[in-house]
Formats: sequence, C-alpha cells, structure tokens
Amino acid sequence: MSPNYFIGIDVSTTASKALVIDAQGTVLASRSHPHSLSTPRPLWSEQDPDDWWRATSQALRDVLQVVSADQIAAIGLTGQMHGLTALDADGRPLRPAILWNDQRSGPQCEAITHKVGEKRLYQIIGSILPPGFTAPKLVWLRENEPDIYDQIAHVLLPKDYIRYKLSGAYVMDVADGSGFGAMDIGRRGWSDEVLAACDIPRRWLPDLCESTDVSAVVSEEGAAATGLRPGTPIVGGAGDQPAGGVGNGIVSMGQCSLTVGTSGVAYAVSDRYAPEPDGRLHTFCGPIPGTWFHMGVMLSAAGCLRWLHDELAPESSYDDLNQKAAAVPRGSLGLLFAPYLTGERHPYPDPLARGAFAGLTLRHGLPHMVRSVMEGVAFAMRDLLELLRALGVNPSEAVVSGGAANSPVWRQIVADIMGFPLYTVNTSEGGAFGAAILAAVGAGAWPDVPSACAQMVHRVDEIQPEADSVADYRRLYPSFRGLYPALREMFAALSEFES
Ligand code: XUL
Repeated sequence: MSPNYFIGIDVSTTASKALVIDAQGTVLASRSHPHSLSTPRPLWSEQDPDDWWRATSQALRDVLQVVSADQIAAIGLTGQMHGLTALDADGRPLRPAILWNDQRSGPQCEAITHKVGEKRLYQIIGSILPPGFTAPKLVWLRENEPDIYDQIAHVLLPKDYIRYKLSGAYVMDVADGSGFGAMDIGRRGWSDEVLAACDIPRRWLPDLCESTDVSAVVSEEGAAATGLRPGTPIVGGAGDQPAGGVGNGIVSMGQCSLTVGTSGVAYAVSDRYAPEPDGRLHTFCGPIPGTWFHMGVMLSAAGCLRWLHDELAPESSYDDLNQKAAAVPRGSLGLLFAPYLTGERHPYPDPLARGAFAGLTLRHGLPHMVRSVMEGVAFAMRDLLELLRALGVNPSEAVVSGGAANSPVWRQIVADIMGFPLYTVNTSEGGAFGAAILAAVGAGAWPDVPSACAQMVHRVDEIQPEADSVADYRRLYPSFRGLYPALREMFAALSEFES
C-alpha cells in the first residue's frame, strides 16, 4: 500500500512536537519534548537551535514507534516565527537563536524604518518593523557581535533549521518568511530594496517556496537521526500562526481565529494584498498560494497567567486558579491588568511596555489577580479585533484556541469581552495539525487546503456571550484602553532600572 500518513512538526517556544495524521485528519500519534529558554539580559530571549533538533528528532523517533516510517507520505513543518538562526558555511549555529519575543533591536528597527521611509516600508513588508522580526536582529548582530556576523553564511527561521537538519536543504516558505521583515509581501519574494537598506547580503537567504510545495526530501543523515525513510518529501510548511490558522480551518474571507497561547493572536484571511496603511497589523503571505492574512499579535497572553502561576502561586494547579477566577465577580472588584510583560507589538509597538495592576486595594487577593489577568489579556485581544475591524474584517464569531480555550472561565471571559460567540474545533494540536494538513495537500492527498480542512476540521463547542457580562465589559473597556497611554512614559523611565 502506498504511504498515506502525514507528519506535522511544530518547533514552538516551549517544546518540539511531532504529530501523525491520516488523510481524514485522525491523529495517530503525537509526542513532544521541551526546550529551555534563556533571558541572559533584559530584553533578550534566546534558544539553542540544537536543542530544537534534539527535541524534534526525539519526538520523531517516538512517533515512529507507533507508525512505520514507510507509511509517511510527507512531512510539514511549523514553528515559532521570526527567530534569527545564523549558521556558518558548514550549517552550524554561530550563536543561540534570537527569538520572536526578544526586544533588543529597537534602535535598529528605527534606523531601517527611517532609511526606507515609514509608509514605503509598511507597504513592502506589510507591517511596521518590530524588534521581534528577523532582519533588525541581523543588523544588531553586525553592530554588536561583528566577529559572529562575519562568519554568517546562511540565515534560517527556527523550523527551517529543522528542515536543514532533516534534508541538508536551505529553504524557507513565504508564510514564515513574511515575518523576516525583508520580503516584498505583495510579490511573495525577497525585497532588494529592504535588504539593501539593512545591508543584508541576498546570498545568505534561502530560496522561498509556497507552504504546500515539496521543498526538500529527507537525507540519509536526517533518516539516521530520526528513523524517517530517506527520500520522504518535506513540504514548505508555515509559521505557527498561519499553520494554526489552517489547523483551525480558517481558510476563507470572513473567518477569524483568536489564539490565546504564549502570545495572543487575532487572525483573518484575505484574498488580496491590502495592508493596513499605518502598519498597525501584520499582513503576510498566506499558507494557501495566492492568499494573504492579517494578524494582530500581543506578545504575552497565556504567558501572563503562567507568570502569575509560577511566581505567585506555584503550589496551585491551573484548575485551582480557574476556580478562584470563577468565584470573583466580573471586573475583579475594580482591578485592571495591563498584560505587556515582554513589551508589546500590537496595538502598541513598544519594547518598553510593561505589565501593571491598576486599582489594587486591601480587598484584593490572589483570586482577583487571576481573574484580572484573564480579563486584561482578553481586553488586549479585543484591541487586536478592533484593528481587524478597522480594516473592514468584521467577523460575527471566532474559533478560539491556545491555553485560554482549555479554561471554561477564561474562554467565557473572552466571549463576553469580544461580544460574539466563540467555538472550538476537534483538534487542539494547532500548528502541528495545520502543518500535517499542508503535508497532505503537498503530497496530493487533497487538491487544496480548503478541501482538506473541510474534511478534517470540525466545530466542537460553542461559547455564547452572556448579555449582562457583555454590557459590563463594554463599560470597562475604555478604562483598559486608557491604561497604556497613561503609563507609557513611566514604563520608559522605569526601564533605566531594569539592569
Ligand atoms: C507571530 C509571533 C508569535 C511567534 C511565537 O508573529 O511572533 O506568534 O510565532 O508563537
């Protein structure tokens, strides 16, 4: 029988996962192994690329204990976007990867933006240039670590390093490549103009492919390290957000997803390239050839609850925290949380934005803080929805995924603050599932991504907003909107004391 299973690999910020599905989307095996993250200085966030490879190759070996390598028709890749993975001429990492939530390259972003011109840059790269993107980090490297910069021969994104380790090929897909900050998004290729402004040599950058193209095949070395069959096709894949969009079945205009994971994302598809004129959202190449997507990103979403748990309530389970939040009235007795724990991207592109509790009194305790964190994150997601609305994307419902989707109290808060129904889908495997769908399309099991999704992705739960809560949160939203403007200058002043 010809191979008819598909693998999705997801190199996320917390772990690498390998997932196997059949052509109907049934999950046959899923394994993941964690990686560590280091923040050696304020604003920095780094990971060792070989840690990704160690975790991914182990996850592949694990799932290939469950299904045979001969049954794998194709592999799709996804992962955290934007991470600068700089390699020498032998393909070895020159330093730890600089991640999507690293904020060190603010000055470089300003300089590149000034050089190209704000409006022109936004039109080309479909976004403002935030420090998370890859190109400004390369400029930072030139200015701060010239010895390393001089040895660079290849630059990849995190999941593309795994492709390289599996196949020996240097390739990037357009949906992940869009987050590099040097692509001409309308033309789906590298921008000579932006590369020249950054003074980045084109020869360092890989060829670009579409997400469903077969981009490489597994090499003998890749096979020996993982148990895969040499010659197994690897499709282009996509960054975690567009792959998650596919995994959630968001494939046509009008559909919307809200992902409340480590970061928080509002995502919608567009069938033409029409970026926000002031760059206040990302408009990137879509994982479906000939499409684009808009997305608004907040940098710390469920990450805020993890922080609260780890620092203030490490003995509590997340179930305990959910119960505490459910017992607190909406509005958390007047306690508001600003969720900018790692700086912010949308709607406030500010690496120095910080978290805050406003309105703290003697009556507040841990339960109020938990609920207030959930509400603050949901309000910041509402900010992203408002940016989509301003572009004419007016969803009447959204699929919700990520950590918040697993918490009944948190997803109800999100539905009430959005003021429209939410639904969940049959898989919580997110990006890995989307990457496996892209593999299935690349291998020809389905003619295109929408028909694959129509078969594989189904609605499960619906969460209806509650009218009284919607009204209360509508009254509270303007106070939340006022938080960042009121604190912006103070955040900048406080940053002097961070190191
Ligand atoms: C998207 C973004 C994050 C990362 C990590 O632009 O920065 O979603 O991809 O998940």
